[in-house]
Formats: sequence, structure tokens, C-alpha cells
Amino acid sequence: MNITPELSETHYFETNLPPSTLAEHTALANAFVKQHHDAKRPVVLLTSGGTTVPLENQTVRFIDNFSAGTRGATSAEYFLSHGYAVIFLHRQFSLLPFSRHYSHSTNCFLDFLSEWGRIGEDEEDGGKAEQAATPDVVVKAKYRQEMLSVLRKYQEAKKKNLLLLLPFTTVTSYLFTLKALACEMQCLGNEALFYLAAAVSDFFVPPSRMAEHKIQSGDIPSLGGDGSGVGGGKKLIVDLDPVPKFLKRLVEQWAPQAMIVSFKLETDPQMLLSKCRQSLERYSHHLVIGNLLSTRKREVVFVDREGIEWIRTPEAGQDSEEVEIESLIVPAVIRKHQEMLERRKTGAKK
Ligand code: PMT
Repeated sequence: MNITPELSETHYFETNLPPSTLAEHTALANAFVKQHHDAKRPVVLLTSGGTTVPLENQTVRFIDNFSAGTRGATSAEYFLSHGYAVIFLHRQFSLLPFSRHYSHSTNCFLDFLSEWGRIGEDEEDGGKAEQAATPDVVVKAKYRQEMLSVLRKYQEAKKKNLLLLLPFTTVTSYLFTLKALACEMQCLGNEALFYLAAAVSDFFVPPSRMAEHKIQSGDIPSLGGDGSGVGGGKKLIVDLDPVPKFLKRLVEQWAPQAMIVSFKLETDPQMLLSKCRQSLERYSHHLVIGNLLSTRKREVVFVDREGIEWIRTPEAGQDSEEVEIESLIVPAVIRKHQEMLERRKTGAKK
């Protein structure tokens, strides 16, 4: 039988189990979307972090995809600052908006704190403080201003319920949730934006071939030879199937009216533009943002039907603050989203 992309996608959802959190996450998204739809606020579904491919049902070992979640977590903050509500579909324990400034950093979060009144602890009080009668924990003076600004934005987002955090781990849980959320967002029409920064596994172990328990090295058959080499002649050979490409289904059926932006990560500069163009042609969505692993924090390329545009951060001078490239990417994406909304309003094609 000829397996068409349609069939392989249907087969994927029929043969893999949905995550146990699906109903709860769908209900949360439903209420979130309704709130912001009523408030006429645009909503972005932002995916972030890498998906895993488990090798065992009771998972000890898994294959991972590269992504710390920096692009997603940072972009989420800029979308919020431009008036969007954000559904943040992220790899569990990857970077989160706001807390990213203090987690996973080279400083342990405890390095931002000091004991109030402890002599010499805080350089900015000149070490003059008296030993306090009741010790307390405070933010060190040099971090206070920035932390206050992050804290205020975080509290504002919480108070107005502008940020919905939904975690995933495996590629299967990611795809089930993406599909469900996209369907919940259909009522938003053109106001919905998909910003797909997650790094999604291209291959997986289908349930029919998945080991239930931890794979035992003793059970792996020897590949011949006298077993005297490294590993004693044993090799764990993992047989992976391709994950069906879901972008086409997202564009055509799950979110036909929304603006869809995908990312493309490459390591070979020679391939980046052609892979972005190929993706745009294959899936007929609105924008591909290409980036190279080695330069992703300094430059990206926008590829759409109008052409290509490089976005680069300015050279950081000695005294100048480093610019986060997401502070340039997000407004440029929003501009394109607003243009699309305008065109749809006036009935213009493109
Ligand atoms: O988090 P950081 O450390 O900051 O890194 C950010 C990043 C480099 C990971 C990010 O900027 C980025 O480039 N993300 C996309 C990585 C990538 O190339 O993903 P992909 O090849 O798995 O998918 C490309 C697109 O195809 C995605 O938008 C995805 O939605 C889609 N896809 C992928 C697999 C699949 N089975 N179906 C799909 O539709």
C-alpha cells in the first residue's frame, strides 16, 4: 500500500498514545483562548525546546533534540510586551520566560542573594552594615534594579493571565498537544499566530518496536567477531521510523486562518537558504526563520514569498548592552502578522 502523508499522519495518531495531560491542557487552553478572544487580544502559540524520543516505554534512555529554550523563552517576553497573549508550549525544565534570567545561568540563583545586614556581604553598601538582629534574605544591590523590572513584568503577565505555560517532553506529547491547541485556537481566525521555535524530532521508535523495560546491555546480541574489541563486539542498533511532517496538516487543516512561522536550524551555511525555501514551498505557510547553530544568537534570515531579509544584532561595543536578537525578530514577525490582518480585512490577496 502506498502510504501518503495524510495516511501516515492519521496512522501516527492512531498508533501512539496521547499524553495523560492532554485533556487538562486542552481545557486550560480553551479558557485562555476564550478570555483573550473576548478581549480582542491576539494570541501566539509559541513552541520552545527540544522533543525527546524514548527508547523504552518505562523510559530510562531517550534521544534528545538540541534546544535550551532560549529563543522561545526570550521571544515570549517580547510578544507579551507587544500586547500578545502567549501560550508557551515548552519542553519541561527548559528555559521559561522571566525566570530564564535567573535559572540555568552561570550564576546559581543563590549568587543573586545576600543575607541582609551581614557585614561585607553586599559590595554596594561598602560593607558598612551592622549585623542585623533578625537575619533576612535580600537581592544584592547590583542586581536589584534589573530584577525589579523583570519581576514587575512577570507579575503583570500573571495578574492579567497573559501567559499559559504548557510542558511537553516526548515528540508524541508535543504533536498531540500542538494539534489540540491549534483546534482550540481556530475561533481566533487571523488573530492567531504560530511561532514554532521548538526543535522537533524527525525520527522515533514506533510503539510496536518499543521495549517495555530498560534495555539491558546483556540482552544485546553480539555482532560477531571474537568480542575482544571495544564493547566486546556488541552494538545497540536503534531502528527509527520517520515522524510524519505535520506542518502541512497544521497549515491546511488545524489552523487554516492563522499566520504560521516556522524555524529552520542548520549547521552548514551553504544549506540554510535552500532548506528554508524548500520548507516554504513544501508547506505553503507564511514565514520561515532560518538560523545557524553557531550564529543563532547574532543573526537569522527571514524567508517568505516576498524574498529574504537578514536580521542581525549590532556589534556589541565595550560599554553598550548586548541586544537580544529576539527583540528584533519579534517586532518584525508582528509587523508581518499585522500586514496579513490588514490584507485580509481589505480582501487583498498575497
Ligand atoms: O532554544 P535555543 O537553544 O535558543 O535554540 C533555538 C533553535 C535553534 C532550536 C530555534 O531557533 C530553531 O531553529 N528551531 C527549529 C529547529 C528545527 O530546525 O526544527 P525541525 O527541523 O525539527 O523543524 C522545522 C520545522 O518543521 C518546525 O517548525 C516544525 O514545526 C516542523 N516539523 C518538524 C518535524 C515534524 N515531524 N513535523 C514538522 O512539521
